[in-house]
Formats: sequence, structure tokens, C-alpha cells
Amino acid sequence: MKEVEHLNRDNYLSEVQVLHTNDQIRKRIKELAGKINDYYKEKTDRIIAICILKGAVHFYSELILNLDMDVVYSFIHVSSYSGSKSTGKIKVNYWIDKPVTNEYVLIVEDILDTGKTLSYIVKYLNKHSPKDLKIAALYHKVGKSNLKADFIGFEINDEFIVGYGLDYDERFRNLPYVGYFRK
Ligand code: IMP
Ligand code: MG
Repeated sequence: MKEVEHLNRDNYLSEVQVLHTNDQIRKRIKELAGKINDYYKEKTDRIIAICILKGAVHFYSELILNLDMDVVYSFIHVSSYSGSKSTGKIKVNYWIDKPVTNEYVLIVEDILDTGKTLSYIVKYLNKHSPKDLKIAALYHKVGKSNLKADFIGFEINDEFIVGYGLDYDERFRNLPYVGYFRK
């Protein structure tokens, strides 16, 4: 991982190589929304969708605009990362404000890496007995976690990616595309 702290914005942007353009990401999210609509169609016309802040913010917004049921918005803010390394420790900054008991719940996460963050969240949500709990992840790093998302945007190798909400030390989140650092 290159150190980017000392670089100004123009210089660090030149270090990012595009993996998926904004058009590619939004096209894939529309496809995922289609699958999610199909999944809930015969079951319910209302779900609670939980956005895992901060990284999932753009994925969440775009996905939900393409869902055709009632969506109750809910947010969780946890952090486990410092720079590009997982600290393994999860800090809860903000937790859901609505009970999930007996509800159809969809967790919306930016990227599933080791799965530690999601396992923690799933464990605590399950204590409140949702009727159904599903996970949508925009990216999934193959082979790194036992936990699997139910709806996956893109499978990737173990590379560190940024943009479309994903950060490196709070930088790069507002890139409209997703990319990784040039080697
Ligand atoms: P996990 O607990 O190891 O699955 O890590 C999940 C969280 O780490 C994600 O929600 C991201 O915030 C962050 N993360 C993991 N991989 C990346 C990456 O490649 N780029 C940016 N953030 C990442
Ligand atoms: Mg992060």
C-alpha cells in the first residue's frame, strides 16, 4: 500500500486505477435491485434496509431508489479499520433506532472482507429475532470470509479498493468510480 498522506488531491488521484466506472456500478446495482425485488415479491411489501455507514452510503441510496417496496431507512455506524489494515476490533458509533423484531431486514454493506464487521452486526440483530435477515454487499473479497452475502455486486481479489463510498483513511470516498492503487 502506498502512503498517500503527503500527496495533494491531484497527485493521489493519479495513483488510483479505475476498476469499475460509475456507469458500470449503477448498472450492476440495478441488476441487484431486480434480484432483491424478486426475492421479496411474494413475501412482503415492506422491508427495513440498514445502511452500514459510512462506506455503503452511495450503494444504499442507489439500491433503494431501485426497489419497488416500502423501505424503512435505518443506519448503523461501526468502524474496524485504521488505514488499510483491519484492527479486528469493532467500535459501534451509532446503532439502529427501530426494533427489527418480526421484520424483513436487509443489511446493505459496501464490502465484505474478513466478515468480522458483518458477523458482529448479524449476531446482535439476530438477538432481536427479525423475521428474515439478508445481506447485500457491493463488493466481496473472494475466499476471505465464512460469511457470504445473499446479494453481491462484484467479486474481487484481495486488493484494497477506494471510491463510491469506500475510503482509505477517510479519503477517496467521493470518487464516483471504484479503483485501486496503481502498483
Ligand atoms: P471486514 O470486517 O474485514 O469484513 O471489513 C469490512 C469493512 O472494512 C468494510 O465495511 C469497509 O469499511 C472496510 N474495508 C474492507 N476492505 C476494504 C477495501 O478494500 N477498501 C476500503 N475499505 C475496506
Ligand atoms: Mg471503511
